Amino acid sequence: MFRLATFFAFCWRDPYIAKYGDRYIGYSYFKKLNNEELQQGNTAVLKEYWNTGVATALKVRILQFGKDHGYRTIESGHRNNNIPMRIVNEQKLGFIPISSEIRLELATFGH
Ligand SMILES: CC(C)(COP(=O)(O)OP(=O)(O)OC[C@H]1O[C@@H](n2cnc3c(N)ncnc32)[C@H](O)[C@@H]1OP(=O)(O)O)[C@@H](O)C(=O)NCCC(=O)NCCS
Repeated sequence: MFRLATFFAFCWRDPYIAKYGDRYIGYSYFKKLNNEELQQGNTAVLKEYWNTGVATALKVRILQFGKDHGYRTIESGHRNNNIPMRIVNEQKLGFIPISSEIRLELATFGH
């Protein structure tokens, strides 16, 4: 496992980290796609802090960064069976679906 400082050294995206006391409890990143668009993703929160608004707060900070720096749109995504992320993105923050992806599986008939 990477130590956090090591992780940052490898990280080419800009992360936001949520801290509660001495604990790092959540993470989300964004990166610049071009002068008008940001991409935001990979949000994760420690399970014991789920449903306390941490992911929403992280993403709000990123939206604010985008606004403050003149970006016109921010792209994000989630799987449709990830209910908490879907609620954060679509209901709480107002992201609008623009495209979707179908994931496929082929049984190998083995083990
Ligand atoms: C997805 C994830 C980041 C959400 O983080 P979080 O800090 O718990 O999110 P928030 O508390 O800001 O918001 C979650 C919302 O979903 C709601 N929610 C959660 N499960 C729900 C369910 N089964 N049905 C209805 N609402 C649900 C919560 O009530 C909350 O809404 P509210 O604030 O209006 O009450 C967190 O669950 C996580 O780390 N999951 C594993 C990693 C992951 O899937 N990341 C996303 C990759 S795209």
